[in-house]
Amino acid sequence: MPTNQFLESASVIETREVAAQTFLTEFSSPKIAAAVKPGQFVMLSFPNTLDPLLPRAFSVCETKGDRVILFYVAVGKGTTRLSKMQHAEKVVLNGPLGTGFPELSRGEKVWIAVGGSGAAVLPIIISAANNSGASPTAFYGARTKNQLMQFNHIRIEFATDDGSAGFHGTVVELLKDKMHDSRPDKIFACGPTPMLASVQREFQDKIRTYISVETPMACGMGLCQGCPVKRKDGTGYYLACKDGPVFDARVIELAAGAV
Ligand SMILES: Cc1cc2nc3c(=O)[nH]c(=O)nc-3n(C[C@H](O)[C@H](O)[C@H](O)COP(=O)(O)OP(=O)(O)OC[C@H]3O[C@@H](n4cnc5c(N)ncnc54)[C@H](O)[C@@H]3O)c2cc1C
Ligand code: FES
Repeated sequence: MPTNQFLESASVIETREVAAQTFLTEFSSPKIAAAVKPGQFVMLSFPNTLDPLLPRAFSVCETKGDRVILFYVAVGKGTTRLSKMQHAEKVVLNGPLGTGFPELSRGEKVWIAVGGSGAAVLPIIISAANNSGASPTAFYGARTKNQLMQFNHIRIEFATDDGSAGFHGTVVELLKDKMHDSRPDKIFACGPTPMLASVQREFQDKIRTYISVETPMACGMGLCQGCPVKRKDGTGYYLACKDGPVFDARVIELAAGAV
Protein backbone atom coordinates (compact mmCIF):
# COMPACT_ATOMS: atom_id res chain seq x y z
CA MET A 1 0.00 0.00 0.00
CA PRO A 2 1.45 3.45 -0.89
CA THR A 3 2.67 5.50 2.11
CA ASN A 4 -0.02 8.12 1.63
CA GLN A 5 -2.89 5.58 1.56
CA PHE A 6 -4.51 4.25 4.75
CA LEU A 7 -6.96 1.62 5.91
CA GLU A 8 -8.71 3.24 8.87
CA SER A 9 -11.42 2.08 11.19
CA ALA A 10 -13.50 5.24 11.26
CA SER A 11 -16.22 5.95 13.78
CA VAL A 12 -19.30 7.95 12.93
CA ILE A 13 -19.58 11.31 14.63
CA GLU A 14 -22.97 12.13 13.15
CA THR A 15 -25.24 11.69 10.13
CA ARG A 16 -27.61 14.42 8.95
CA GLU A 17 -30.21 14.52 6.18
CA VAL A 18 -29.49 17.71 4.25
CA ALA A 19 -31.77 17.47 1.20
CA ALA A 20 -34.16 14.92 -0.33
CA GLN A 21 -32.59 11.46 0.27
CA THR A 22 -29.25 13.25 0.66
CA PHE A 23 -26.99 12.93 3.69
CA LEU A 24 -23.75 14.10 5.26
CA THR A 25 -21.87 11.68 7.50
CA GLU A 26 -18.93 12.85 9.55
CA PHE A 27 -16.25 10.33 10.61
CA SER A 28 -13.24 10.43 12.82
CA SER A 29 -10.50 9.42 10.36
CA PRO A 30 -7.32 11.36 11.13
CA LYS A 31 -4.90 9.80 8.66
CA ILE A 32 -7.17 10.12 5.64
CA ALA A 33 -8.27 13.63 6.71
CA ALA A 34 -4.64 14.75 6.72
CA ALA A 35 -3.75 13.21 3.37
CA VAL A 36 -6.74 13.72 1.06
CA LYS A 37 -6.73 16.12 -1.92
CA PRO A 38 -9.73 17.52 -3.83
CA GLY A 39 -11.34 14.91 -6.10
CA GLN A 40 -9.81 11.92 -4.33
CA PHE A 41 -12.10 9.29 -2.88
CA VAL A 42 -12.36 6.57 -0.24
CA MET A 43 -13.68 3.01 -0.50
CA LEU A 44 -16.07 2.46 2.42
CA SER A 45 -16.92 -0.99 3.78
CA PHE A 46 -19.12 -2.13 6.61
CA PRO A 47 -17.42 -4.46 9.11
CA ASN A 48 -19.13 -7.67 10.29
CA THR A 49 -21.45 -8.00 7.29
CA LEU A 50 -21.35 -9.40 3.77
CA ASP A 51 -24.27 -7.26 2.66
CA PRO A 52 -23.22 -5.24 0.78
CA LEU A 53 -20.22 -7.38 -0.01
CA LEU A 54 -18.17 -4.85 -1.97
CA PRO A 55 -16.93 -1.52 -0.65
CA ARG A 56 -18.55 1.64 -2.04
CA ALA A 57 -16.72 4.66 -3.46
CA PHE A 58 -17.26 8.16 -2.05
CA SER A 59 -15.50 11.40 -2.90
CA VAL A 60 -14.29 13.17 0.21
CA CYS A 61 -16.53 16.20 0.61
CA GLU A 62 -14.69 18.06 3.32
CA THR A 63 -12.22 17.63 6.16
CA LYS A 64 -12.36 19.35 9.54
CA GLY A 65 -9.31 18.64 11.70
CA ASP A 66 -9.21 14.86 12.02
CA ARG A 67 -12.70 14.43 10.54
CA VAL A 68 -13.65 13.23 7.07
CA ILE A 69 -17.09 14.22 5.80
CA LEU A 70 -18.94 12.33 3.08
CA PHE A 71 -21.94 13.65 1.14
CA TYR A 72 -24.16 11.10 -0.57
CA VAL A 73 -27.52 10.36 -2.07
CA ALA A 74 -29.19 7.20 -0.71
CA VAL A 75 -29.69 5.17 -3.88
CA GLY A 76 -29.05 1.57 -2.82
CA LYS A 77 -28.05 -0.79 -0.04
CA GLY A 78 -24.74 0.81 0.94
CA THR A 79 -25.85 4.43 1.00
CA THR A 80 -29.13 3.60 2.77
CA ARG A 81 -27.26 1.66 5.42
CA LEU A 82 -24.77 4.50 5.85
CA SER A 83 -27.58 7.04 6.19
CA LYS A 84 -28.87 5.16 9.27
CA MET A 85 -25.56 4.90 11.09
CA GLN A 86 -25.45 6.39 14.56
CA HIS A 87 -22.75 8.05 16.61
CA ALA A 88 -19.81 5.70 17.45
CA GLU A 89 -20.74 3.02 14.90
CA LYS A 90 -17.77 2.05 12.73
CA VAL A 91 -16.94 1.61 9.06
CA VAL A 92 -13.64 0.89 7.34
CA LEU A 93 -12.27 3.58 5.04
CA ASN A 94 -9.54 2.90 2.50
CA GLY A 95 -7.98 6.02 1.05
CA PRO A 96 -7.34 8.57 -0.11
CA LEU A 97 -7.47 6.97 -3.56
CA GLY A 98 -7.22 8.10 -7.16
CA THR A 99 -6.01 11.15 -8.99
CA GLY A 100 -7.90 14.28 -8.04
CA PHE A 101 -8.31 17.72 -9.61
CA PRO A 102 -5.16 19.64 -10.60
CA GLU A 103 -3.77 22.12 -8.10
CA LEU A 104 -4.71 25.73 -8.72
CA SER A 105 -2.40 28.71 -8.66
CA ARG A 106 -2.84 32.21 -7.27
CA GLY A 107 -5.27 34.32 -9.26
CA GLU A 108 -6.50 31.43 -11.40
CA LYS A 109 -10.23 31.53 -12.12
CA VAL A 110 -11.95 28.16 -11.79
CA TRP A 111 -15.61 27.37 -12.34
CA ILE A 112 -16.84 24.27 -10.54
CA ALA A 113 -19.97 22.67 -11.99
CA VAL A 114 -21.67 19.92 -9.99
CA GLY A 115 -24.88 17.93 -10.12
CA GLY A 116 -26.48 15.23 -7.97
CA SER A 117 -24.07 13.41 -5.66
CA GLY A 118 -21.24 15.14 -7.57
CA ALA A 119 -21.88 18.11 -5.28
CA ALA A 120 -19.75 16.18 -2.78
CA VAL A 121 -16.58 17.67 -4.23
CA LEU A 122 -17.59 21.33 -3.87
CA PRO A 123 -16.44 22.11 -0.30
CA ILE A 124 -13.03 20.45 -0.60
CA ILE A 125 -12.28 22.13 -3.95
CA ILE A 126 -13.44 25.55 -2.77
CA SER A 127 -11.35 25.29 0.37
CA ALA A 128 -8.19 24.26 -1.56
CA ALA A 129 -8.80 26.97 -4.17
CA ASN A 130 -9.16 29.64 -1.48
CA ASN A 131 -6.01 28.41 0.27
CA SER A 132 -4.00 28.69 -2.93
CA GLY A 133 -5.31 32.19 -3.72
CA ALA A 134 -7.31 31.02 -6.75
CA SER A 135 -10.72 32.43 -7.54
CA PRO A 136 -13.44 29.73 -7.49
CA THR A 137 -17.10 30.04 -8.51
CA ALA A 138 -19.55 27.23 -7.73
CA PHE A 139 -22.47 26.14 -9.92
CA TYR A 140 -24.84 23.41 -8.73
CA GLY A 141 -27.67 21.88 -10.73
CA ALA A 142 -30.55 19.56 -9.86
CA ARG A 143 -33.92 18.58 -11.22
CA THR A 144 -35.78 20.53 -8.53
CA LYS A 145 -35.23 22.72 -5.46
CA ASN A 146 -35.54 20.08 -2.72
CA GLN A 147 -32.62 18.12 -4.21
CA LEU A 148 -30.23 21.01 -3.63
CA MET A 149 -28.16 21.55 -0.55
CA GLN A 150 -26.75 24.86 0.64
CA PHE A 151 -23.23 24.22 1.95
CA ASN A 152 -22.16 26.52 4.79
CA HIS A 153 -20.01 29.48 3.79
CA ILE A 154 -20.06 28.68 0.05
CA ARG A 155 -21.71 31.05 -2.40
CA ILE A 156 -23.36 28.89 -5.02
CA GLU A 157 -25.19 29.70 -8.24
CA PHE A 158 -28.02 27.18 -8.51
CA ALA A 159 -29.79 25.80 -11.57
CA THR A 160 -32.92 23.66 -11.61
CA ASP A 161 -34.53 21.89 -14.55
CA ASP A 162 -38.00 22.99 -13.36
CA GLY A 163 -37.00 26.56 -12.46
CA SER A 164 -37.95 26.13 -8.75
CA ALA A 165 -34.60 27.62 -7.64
CA GLY A 166 -31.97 29.73 -9.38
CA PHE A 167 -31.44 29.58 -13.12
CA HIS A 168 -34.17 27.76 -15.08
CA GLY A 169 -32.28 25.07 -16.99
CA THR A 170 -29.32 22.75 -16.61
CA VAL A 171 -26.10 23.67 -14.90
CA VAL A 172 -24.33 23.48 -18.27
CA GLU A 173 -26.80 25.98 -19.77
CA LEU A 174 -26.08 28.22 -16.76
CA LEU A 175 -22.34 28.04 -17.46
CA LYS A 176 -22.91 28.90 -21.13
CA ASP A 177 -25.06 31.84 -20.10
CA LYS A 178 -22.39 33.14 -17.69
CA MET A 179 -19.77 32.88 -20.40
CA HIS A 180 -21.35 35.80 -22.22
CA ASP A 181 -19.87 38.06 -19.50
CA SER A 182 -16.83 36.24 -18.19
CA ARG A 183 -14.57 33.25 -18.79
CA PRO A 184 -12.69 30.98 -16.38
CA ASP A 185 -9.16 29.62 -16.82
CA LYS A 186 -10.36 26.14 -15.88
CA ILE A 187 -13.60 24.21 -15.44
CA PHE A 188 -13.94 21.35 -12.94
CA ALA A 189 -17.06 19.18 -13.20
CA CYS A 190 -18.50 16.31 -11.18
CA GLY A 191 -21.94 14.77 -11.63
CA PRO A 192 -23.98 12.24 -13.58
CA THR A 193 -22.52 11.02 -16.87
CA PRO A 194 -24.99 12.91 -19.14
CA MET A 195 -24.01 16.14 -17.41
CA LEU A 196 -20.28 15.36 -17.81
CA ALA A 197 -20.82 14.50 -21.47
CA SER A 198 -22.51 17.85 -21.97
CA VAL A 199 -19.68 19.71 -20.18
CA GLN A 200 -17.16 17.83 -22.31
CA ARG A 201 -18.97 18.63 -25.55
CA GLU A 202 -19.47 22.32 -24.79
CA PHE A 203 -16.17 23.32 -23.23
CA GLN A 204 -13.30 20.88 -23.85
CA ASP A 205 -12.06 22.74 -26.95
CA LYS A 206 -12.37 26.21 -25.41
CA ILE A 207 -11.26 25.94 -21.78
CA ARG A 208 -9.08 23.50 -19.81
CA THR A 209 -11.82 21.20 -18.52
CA TYR A 210 -11.49 18.41 -15.98
CA ILE A 211 -14.27 15.92 -15.27
CA SER A 212 -14.63 13.45 -12.42
CA VAL A 213 -16.29 10.20 -13.55
CA GLU A 214 -18.44 7.94 -11.36
CA THR A 215 -17.57 4.63 -13.02
CA PRO A 216 -18.66 1.79 -10.69
CA MET A 217 -15.68 0.39 -8.78
CA ALA A 218 -15.04 -2.87 -6.95
CA CYS A 219 -11.55 -2.46 -5.47
CA GLY A 220 -10.70 1.23 -6.02
CA MET A 221 -6.99 0.41 -6.23
CA GLY A 222 -6.23 -0.76 -9.75
CA LEU A 223 -6.41 -4.46 -8.89
CA CYS A 224 -9.64 -5.79 -10.43
CA GLN A 225 -9.56 -3.94 -13.82
CA GLY A 226 -13.28 -3.36 -13.28
CA CYS A 227 -13.47 0.38 -13.95
CA PRO A 228 -12.34 0.94 -17.57
CA VAL A 229 -12.71 4.37 -19.17
CA LYS A 230 -12.12 4.50 -22.92
CA ARG A 231 -9.19 6.57 -24.17
CA LYS A 232 -10.16 8.98 -26.90
CA ASP A 233 -7.02 8.24 -28.91
CA GLY A 234 -8.16 4.64 -29.44
CA THR A 235 -5.22 3.09 -27.58
CA GLY A 236 -7.30 1.26 -24.99
CA TYR A 237 -8.55 2.13 -21.56
CA TYR A 238 -7.68 4.06 -18.44
CA LEU A 239 -8.67 2.79 -15.01
CA ALA A 240 -11.05 5.25 -13.35
CA CYS A 241 -9.78 4.40 -9.86
CA LYS A 242 -6.08 4.93 -10.57
CA ASP A 243 -5.74 7.19 -13.60
CA GLY A 244 -8.87 9.10 -12.49
CA PRO A 245 -11.54 9.61 -11.34
CA VAL A 246 -10.57 13.09 -12.59
CA PHE A 247 -9.55 13.29 -16.24
CA ASP A 248 -8.75 16.04 -18.68
CA ALA A 249 -12.02 16.10 -20.67
CA ARG A 250 -10.06 15.83 -23.95
CA VAL A 251 -8.56 12.41 -23.25
CA ILE A 252 -11.57 10.19 -22.49
CA GLU A 253 -14.69 8.95 -24.21
CA LEU A 254 -17.63 8.73 -21.87
CA ALA A 255 -19.80 5.58 -21.92
CA ALA A 256 -22.08 5.19 -24.94
CA GLY A 257 -25.60 6.41 -24.27
CA ALA A 258 -24.36 9.15 -21.98
CA VAL A 259 -25.22 11.98 -24.33
C1 LIG B 1 -14.94 7.76 -7.53
C2 LIG B 1 -16.38 7.76 -7.11
C3 LIG B 1 -16.82 8.68 -6.18
C4 LIG B 1 -18.14 8.65 -5.76
N1 LIG B 1 -18.53 9.58 -4.86
C5 LIG B 1 -19.81 9.59 -4.43
C6 LIG B 1 -20.22 10.55 -3.47
O1 LIG B 1 -19.43 11.35 -2.98
N2 LIG B 1 -21.52 10.51 -3.07
C7 LIG B 1 -22.42 9.61 -3.59
O2 LIG B 1 -23.60 9.64 -3.23
N3 LIG B 1 -22.05 8.68 -4.50
C8 LIG B 1 -20.78 8.65 -4.92
N4 LIG B 1 -20.38 7.72 -5.85
C9 LIG B 1 -21.38 6.74 -6.34
C10 LIG B 1 -21.52 5.60 -5.35
O3 LIG B 1 -20.28 4.95 -5.13
C11 LIG B 1 -22.49 4.56 -5.94
O4 LIG B 1 -23.74 5.14 -6.21
C12 LIG B 1 -22.66 3.36 -5.04
O5 LIG B 1 -22.96 2.27 -5.87
C13 LIG B 1 -23.75 3.51 -4.04
O6 LIG B 1 -23.85 2.30 -3.32
P1 LIG B 1 -25.23 1.70 -2.88
O7 LIG B 1 -24.94 0.38 -2.28
O8 LIG B 1 -26.00 2.66 -2.08
O9 LIG B 1 -26.02 1.55 -4.22
P2 LIG B 1 -25.96 0.31 -5.22
O10 LIG B 1 -26.76 -0.78 -4.65
O11 LIG B 1 -24.56 0.08 -5.61
O12 LIG B 1 -26.78 0.97 -6.41
C14 LIG B 1 -26.21 2.03 -7.18
C15 LIG B 1 -27.13 2.37 -8.34
O13 LIG B 1 -27.44 1.24 -9.07
C16 LIG B 1 -28.84 1.08 -9.05
N5 LIG B 1 -29.11 -0.34 -8.86
C17 LIG B 1 -28.82 -1.08 -7.77
N6 LIG B 1 -29.20 -2.35 -7.95
C18 LIG B 1 -29.74 -2.41 -9.18
C19 LIG B 1 -30.32 -3.43 -9.96
N7 LIG B 1 -30.44 -4.68 -9.51
N8 LIG B 1 -30.75 -3.13 -11.21
C20 LIG B 1 -30.64 -1.88 -11.70
N9 LIG B 1 -30.10 -0.86 -11.00
C21 LIG B 1 -29.67 -1.12 -9.77
C22 LIG B 1 -29.37 1.86 -7.90
O14 LIG B 1 -30.71 2.28 -8.07
C23 LIG B 1 -28.44 2.98 -7.91
O15 LIG B 1 -28.80 3.94 -8.86
C24 LIG B 1 -19.07 7.72 -6.30
C25 LIG B 1 -18.62 6.77 -7.22
C26 LIG B 1 -17.29 6.80 -7.63
C27 LIG B 1 -16.83 5.77 -8.61
S1 FES C 1 -12.01 -0.57 -9.25
FE1 FES C 1 -10.66 -2.25 -9.38
S2 FES C 1 -9.30 -1.61 -10.93
FE2 FES C 1 -10.53 0.13 -10.65
